[in-house]
Amino acid sequence: MSTPSKAKRKLRDGVADIASLWNSVVENHKGENPALQQRNLGMISRVLGILPHLVALMFTAYIVWIARPGSSLFSWHPTLMCLAFMVFMLEAVLLFSPISSVLRGAGYTTKRQWHWMLQACAVAAALTGFAVITTNKYMAEKQHYTSWHGLLGLIVCCAVNLSVAGGVSVMYPAIVFNMPVMLLKRLHAIFGTVVFLGGMVTMWLGLCSTWFTNNVHHDAVLALCFACPVIVLLYVMVQVGQKIFRRRAH
Ligand code: HEM
Repeated sequence: MSTPSKAKRKLRDGVADIASLWNSVVENHKGENPALQQRNLGMISRVLGILPHLVALMFTAYIVWIARPGSSLFSWHPTLMCLAFMVFMLEAVLLFSPISSVLRGAGYTTKRQWHWMLQACAVAAALTGFAVITTNKYMAEKQHYTSWHGLLGLIVCCAVNLSVAGGVSVMYPAIVFNMPVMLLKRLHAIFGTVVFLGGMVTMWLGLCSTWFTNNVHHDAVLALCFACPVIVLLYVMVQVGQKIFRRRAH
């Protein structure tokens, strides 16, 4: 049997082995020719580019699968909300990402057109999802906005409309007197990100509901579902943050 000090030494040696292995990998990589390094970087950026689409689509597919849209009026609420925030809104934002955009080769005007069309779909889905849950609760004669999810959801749905107004002012800057277009764009990006943040937090709180936890029978699946809005949110915040700070640096 090994004594505690022996075990400690073994652990220390093990950590040192891993560290030297990692150092040799890094050294080898440094020695590689630039073409190979470029190829590795290209592969990493491709994987990172696909990641948010994959996470969001798998999450939405899973929620739609357990909600079974059409089985009840309520079933449309999680379905439409996931479509609004995880599909339409996320794709609208990712259009401007240098590594994740599905329109990577397209010009700014095309991206801008698709951005507002996807955002219009997101708003339509979100407001219909909101109307569905409100009607459902009204019919069941339950009190409204009693949970954090419900209250934050109400605020987010109102904020989505303000974000639309901001987007329209960026497209037609003459509406907002004396405001430079660059400032309008930056404000629109910041406010849009805050709305998206609110959407992801609301979604996360929705996953804490008894409806969801009763429908998921594996802890690992539950944990994965909780991770999805966090991954997607971090990705969007980094993308928008980089854009805003890069613009400021110029
Ligand atoms: C960003 C997306 C979402 C928004 C903005 C949102 C919004 C709302 C709102 C405003 C209510 C309260 C309605 C009322 O009290 O009259 C509500 C209720 C509810 N939502 Fe969501 N929701 C979203 C996503 C989800 C998701 C993904 C689920 C399920 C996984 C979900 C499950 C529920 C449940 C079970 C209720 C009823 C209980 C309660 O009021 O907390 N929601 N939602």
